[in-house]
Amino acid sequence: MLKLGINIDHVATLRQARRGNYPQPLEAALICQKSGANSIVAHLREDRRHIQEADLLLLKKRLKVNLNMEMSLAAGIVDFALKLKPFQVTLVPEKRVELTTEGGLDVLVNFRKVKSALTRFQKRGIQASLFIDPRINQIKAAIAAGARIIELHTGCYADARSEYSRDKAFCKIKQAVLFARKNNLIVNAGHGLDYMNVRRIAKIPGINELNIGYSVICRALFVGLSSAVRQMKGLIK
Ligand code: PXP
Repeated sequence: MLKLGINIDHVATLRQARRGNYPQPLEAALICQKSGANSIVAHLREDRRHIQEADLLLLKKRLKVNLNMEMSLAAGIVDFALKLKPFQVTLVPEKRVELTTEGGLDVLVNFRKVKSALTRFQKRGIQASLFIDPRINQIKAAIAAGARIIELHTGCYADARSEYSRDKAFCKIKQAVLFARKNNLIVNAGHGLDYMNVRRIAKIPGINELNIGYSVICRALFVGLSSAVRQMKGLIK
């Protein structure tokens, strides 16, 4: 069955708005876990704008479901992740000025760095996924770098401004899933998925897990976090 990973970064965004203790990402993660989330995703950004090291330590200690730490390839962050030893890391590109992760990791351009990080994580017994655009050349590079898991960026589909471009983006994602599965990769997907657009992606055969954050946390404001997660889980079934 298609799994659901919930990204709780924006619970920490709210907390950081006042630099206080509330709301706690751990409390949110435990509610997500109880409501059917298969994993919890948290991104330790270089600027620490939301999730902090202390959050990850608590999540690692208290969660029963898998912890997926999203991160860039910055040396300090890689060292922290190797020490933390979460179930999985997802390597993403990171720019200081961006509002959220804007594109996939360019594995062709960063090949040596990606390969070396993958090796270090795999040797430490941490599953490592690469967040990449749904392009065959990126998937080929991911395979060459030693990846066994990829997450396909669904932003091009979610943010499309016309039905034509949405259909085109959807076809690209579908083809990418097919190609990656043929090459025995575990395929996850995410970014920009919401209660309106998720079903089409969820129907693509071969996807292992969808990682969703913003839309679920926003919906939680009105219906509560537990209902927001359950509703999303219901949609992707
Ligand atoms: N997957 C990855 C790799 C991401 O960077 C993000 C955004 O943090 C998501 C999934 C979730 O995207 P969204 O918050 O738009 O659902």
